[in-house]
Parts: sequence; C-alpha cells; structure tokens
Amino acid sequence: MKILLVGSGGREHALGLGLYADPACSSLHVAPGNPGISEFAQCHQLDISSNAEIVALALKIGADLVVIGPEVPLVNGVADDLRRLKIAVFGPSKAAAQLEGSKTFAKEVMSDAGVPTAHSITCTTQEECEKALDTFGPPYVVKDDGLAGGKGVVVTSNRKEAFDHALACKRVVIEEYLVGPEVSLFGISDGTSILAMQPAQDFKRASDNDVGPNTGGMGAYSPLPWAPSDIIEDTYKQVLAPMIAEMSARGTPFIGLLYAGLALTDHGVRVIEFNVRFGDPETQVLIPLLKTPLATLLYKAATADLADTVLEWRDDSAVTVVLAAEGYPHAPQRGGQISEFPTIENVQIFHAGTTLNGKGLIASGGRVLSVTGIGADLTEARDRAYRAISQISLPGSFYRSDIALNAAVAEKGN
Ligand code: AMP
Ligand code: GLY
Repeated sequence: MKILLVGSGGREHALGLGLYADPACSSLHVAPGNPGISEFAQCHQLDISSNAEIVALALKIGADLVVIGPEVPLVNGVADDLRRLKIAVFGPSKAAAQLEGSKTFAKEVMSDAGVPTAHSITCTTQEECEKALDTFGPPYVVKDDGLAGGKGVVVTSNRKEAFDHALACKRVVIEEYLVGPEVSLFGISDGTSILAMQPAQDFKRASDNDVGPNTGGMGAYSPLPWAPSDIIEDTYKQVLAPMIAEMSARGTPFIGLLYAGLALTDHGVRVIEFNVRFGDPETQVLIPLLKTPLATLLYKAATADLADTVLEWRDDSAVTVVLAAEGYPHAPQRGGQISEFPTIENVQIFHAGTTLNGKGLIASGGRVLSVTGIGADLTEARDRAYRAISQISLPGSFYRSDIALNAAVAEKGN
C-alpha cells in the first residue's frame, strides 16, 4: 500500500521507519518530512495547517492510507475531508479530536464515561476563577481550555501567578492537584476496539532533577519496571475502553491514537489529559520496541478491523534523549551546525528539528534530535543512548543527563 504520513518531527521519523519496515508498505511519502526521513521516504513540502494541501497530495500520490502525526491538522478536521473521499485515515475526526482541542469537552466525556480524572471547574469570569482557586487551594492547576501548543498549563503554589494565567485565557479549567508519578499510555483504536500499548514515561522539564521550564519533552523510556503489573489492563478497563465506547455512543467514534496522560495516585489511576495523536518523544521509544508490523496495524485501525489484533513487543528496553538547541524552549537558536553521527549498534537517531544547507546538517528547531538506545534493560539502553548523544556536537546545545536514571537504578536493585 501507498502511505502518506503527515508531520516533520522526531515522532514522524520514528513512525516513518516503522511504517517503512512493514513489507505491506510499498511506498512511503512524508509531508513535510525532514532530512532524516528523506533518507528512506519521499518528502513533499506542504503547509500542514492547510487541509486542502494535504488532501491534494493524498490524491496525487494515490494514498491507500494517510497517517496524521501532529494535532493541528486533526483539530482542523483533515481526517473528515479525507474520509469523505474514501481514503483510509489513521487519525480522529474533527469532532473526536476535541478530546485534545478542548479540556472542557474532554472532562465532559470522561464524566459521562465514568473515567477517573481530577475534579475540575470550567471558568469564564474573574469571579468564577477566584472561587475555583479557593475551592481547590494550592498547588493550583490552571489550564487554558483550548490548544496552546503545550504552553496552556500552569501548576503553581503562587496564587497570583495562577490567577494571572487564568485571566490570560478565554476559558479556563481549574482543577484538583494530583499527586503521583506520571505515565503516558497510548491506545490504538478503530472506533470500536482499542489496543493498549505498553506505558512510557516522558520528562517535561528542561533540566536535570525536573527543574527548569516546561518543554515538549526532553526524553522518554519504556517499559516502566516500577509500574504496577496491571497498569495496562487497569488503564484499558478504567480509561481506554470506556472512552472509546462513549465516543462511539455519541456518534463521533474515535479512530486513531488516544494518548492518556495519567497520574498514578494513591487512590488509583487518574487522567491528567488526553492527546489525540502519538506523543513526542514517547513514540521514539515505543515504535522501536513494537514488533507488530506498523503499516498493517494502522491500516486495520483506519478500516474498522482491529478486533483480532494483538500487539507484540520486543523483550527489551528503550531510552530516548533529546538534543535541544541553545535557548530552548524560550528562544531556541537556529542555524547551528550539527556534526556527523556516530554509528553505534542498537542506537537510532531521529531528526526532530534539522535542515540541510550547503554545508551539511543544521539545527532548525528547538528539539533537534532524539537519540534512542535499545538494550536488554534500562541501564544498557541508557548507556547506548548517552554514548551516542555525547558524540554529537552542536554548539550551545544541551540534553538532560538523568533520563530514566532513577528507573534504571531501581531496576538494577531488584
Ligand atoms: P498537560 O498539558 O495537561 O499534560 O499538563 C502539563 C503538565 O502539568 C502535566 O504533565 C503535569 O505534570 C502537570 N499537571 C497537569 N494537570 C495536573 C494535575 N491535575 N495535577 C498535577 N499536575 C498536573
Ligand atoms: N510527550 C508529550 C506530548 O507529546 O505532548
């Protein structure tokens, strides 16, 4: 089958490699793609916020399957436009993408489906915000209701900071603070069935020991040796299956990747947020571990045919470390020259924000590369990822040195 993958980051590089490795994929097109992806797929320039451009490209190449990476085209309804033309799409409709597009909508669906999440109040006036902040008390959790490119959430014990953020948003969700480790658990759904992937953990803060500003994600690892043994089954029963059933009952079935951001609290699992697409950088550890052929899997999801599928995993661990440009996340420096990559067995280097100029590879985004090491356990996977990333130079760039460190130490101690 001919596949069109939309997006240009490390996530798309990992997905692209997975799709390409499946013998069912006869040709892979990626738009816009990046220099890493162009080594194995045909890249096409386009504006991903234009549904018309995506549809035109899918028709031009005769795509049998379109896989949408980022949230913006999904929230814009590109999946609906493609399905109208009878093209199979892995990615939710505009209506279903509201699970990421609107926090209030996600809360309503969770409430109807009986899915455990933080108690919350949606506010539109100053008075409502003040009341809600006092109801929950510190630490305050204040979320912009709409898509905010990862900048919409403020968690703080400073009431003024919380209030100021609330006022800066049109509609805001103020909620209970959840205590417990965070886990990302993805489900692949065809609208009726949903397959839970194994969990991953990502690292959102820019610097070691979880300090510094929030980022898109500085690293990730999977599996989680410390997590409860029933986490997949429990999340399937309490979160994924009821969400899919509720979306279907509403007449807006969810077809695509449902990303559950979870807190494992003393009272059980709670949903922090949903996204409607593969997470970045979790995808860069999950796809290299997934044995199930990816193109066939996503095609089955896109064509209501998942019921008999079981996911198979390598019995290995993966750790990914993000190389970020100087100044990331606030003011990333673009244009720095990236050195050649080392060749290390069981290491995959994904391009996230790179471009080619006359001189070679240069940084073009805040997150530049995502370096994944695979090993028999987290310690071995970390060693490989860090050995590789330490041999790549980009002036001013930085990376966290503690990705999966605590989990690796705990695993060794067992
Ligand atoms: P979100 O964009 O909703 O994932 O929020 C970004 C980050 O804020 C999450 O990864 C959590 O670390 C934190 N966060 C969001 N909601 C809560 C909550 N109710 N309690 C504690 N931390 C939260
Ligand atoms: N890893 C966080 C995200 O993809 O939003």
